[in-house]
Amino acid sequence: MSDTAKIEFNGQVHEFPLIKGTENELAIEIKSLRGVTDGLVTMDPGFKNTGSCLSGVTFLDGEKGILRYRGYSIEDLAEKADFLEVAYLLIFGELPTADQLQKFHEDIKANSMVDEDVKKILDAFPKTAHPMGILSSLTSALTAFNPSSVNVDSPEEMYQAIVRILGKFPVLVAWTMRKRTGLPLDYGDKKLGYVENILKMMFKMPNEDYEENRIIVDALDKLLILHADHEQNCSTSTVRVVGSSHAGLFASISAGISALWGPLHGGANQAVLEMLEAIKADGGDTKKYMAKAKDKNDPFRLMGFGHRVYKNFDPRARIIKKAADEVLGELGVDDPILDVAKGLEQEALIDSYFVDRKLYPNVDFYSGIIYRAMGIPVEMFTVMFALGRLPGWIAQWREMRLRKEPIGRPRQIYIGETFRDFKKLEER
Ligand code: SDX
Repeated sequence: MSDTAKIEFNGQVHEFPLIKGTENELAIEIKSLRGVTDGLVTMDPGFKNTGSCLSGVTFLDGEKGILRYRGYSIEDLAEKADFLEVAYLLIFGELPTADQLQKFHEDIKANSMVDEDVKKILDAFPKTAHPMGILSSLTSALTAFNPSSVNVDSPEEMYQAIVRILGKFPVLVAWTMRKRTGLPLDYGDKKLGYVENILKMMFKMPNEDYEENRIIVDALDKLLILHADHEQNCSTSTVRVVGSSHAGLFASISAGISALWGPLHGGANQAVLEMLEAIKADGGDTKKYMAKAKDKNDPFRLMGFGHRVYKNFDPRARIIKKAADEVLGELGVDDPILDVAKGLEQEALIDSYFVDRKLYPNVDFYSGIIYRAMGIPVEMFTVMFALGRLPGWIAQWREMRLRKEPIGRPRQIYIGETFRDFKKLEER
């Protein structure tokens, strides 16, 4: 096979090198395209056919339903690792030794205080504010309380920024939830594990002892692992582009949170539950919602279905679907919404509209059912997605800066007005 690709344009043939990755993916490297063709650019809305970077963090194969973090399969990691180990793996590239993991956790705990003045920002929000908007604002505000920008060429400074955001983010997550529920803000307990502490900060009632539920801890740990990274998805690409201007890590993460909020992306897990609730309230009429999803004149989409990359199945959805059965069973929760979800999935798997377009359940389809069984309010579902995705955002931001990637600045094709003379006010 040739190691170049040729483009014939204006009677000239231009050759461009091919880039091959470690999983044999191929790309045409077109850095010189505009120069050698006197201005030709490519056009690829949504970047469906465009690679933005070389990355060694996550590999996924949409046709085969493969997802690996730094070479380890998502199935193995979800089964055998815990979230903090996976965070370390994504960020630093290797699974930590026991000593490395313990130091990582100690350093995170040492950075888990949030300046009391941040509470004044939180107070300014109405109780009805969506937690994702609050989380994005508070994360950006961390920059004000930790103003020194990261010198990425200093491994120590980079490490300190990483443990700082991993220490403070769970506190902000818990505070966004307790703002909504009107509960006092908690700082958790340094004696607890990372996920155990997050749950205690979220759920501890001020007037009673807190009882840890291992089923919920293990379920959340697995869900966070499944959400931890997903190569160049919308929010991660946002984090990389914002970081490419050398904006700080907290500012870049804050931008990623806003991108994740959208219902076509991480916001889908909340939209799925609202859709399933509507179907249940409508007497379980799944066919009505399937018809709406297929109607081109209806903006409604079957939330939790479809994916830019996975065209057979989302391996995470398979793991979460199995976990949903287990967790609800162990918690003794009989949620009819789960039956509605399974019915909808079964119908979509045989409906030609969905089969022809390769639309299968994605990571968001079942996750909300578990979050609800765990007592997490539906408005917090996407916040939990952000909590899981944080290590992936950090890992990708760090990789982009260490590789000294250029500032992200795409071209365009202009389709507006051509030159025209100015019209005075009285002439308009
Ligand atoms: C996440 O990128 C990632 O990796 C994201 C993520 C991650 O971990 O970061 O995996 C997390 O965001 C998962 C996706 C969550 N979003 C949803 O569940 C929202 C519903 N899904 C769709 O909006 C859609 O499937 C997307 C956004 C996920 C993917 O959209 P694409 O790849 O741009 O596909 P498309 O919009 O071009 O759709 C192709 C066709 C269209 O029909 P035709 O014009 O060809 O007739 O499929 C149709 C679409 O109308 N279609 C759907 C549909 N998804 C696509 N029709 C009905 N219901 C749907 N859900």
